[in-house]
Amino acid sequence: MKVVIDTELCQGHGRCFTMAPNLFSFDDLGSGVVIGDGTLNDETIELARLAQLNCPEHAISIEE
Ligand code: F3S
Repeated sequence: MKVVIDTELCQGHGRCFTMAPNLFSFDDLGSGVVIGDGTLNDETIELARLAQLNCPEHAISIEE
């Protein structure tokens, strides 16, 4: 499974990289970006789900 951020929807609220700095970072404009290719494991899937639930713009999705 992979986590992705829809850059069209992200408004830079920053909850993702605050909650899960191992999974997300931010670009020069303060928009969230996925670190690496976003592949999730048993340890990171819950953090990714938490970030997904907390993104006000619903910009984070988890793909099978
Ligand atoms: Fe963007 Fe949502 Fe993170 S708006 S910075 S993907 S919390």
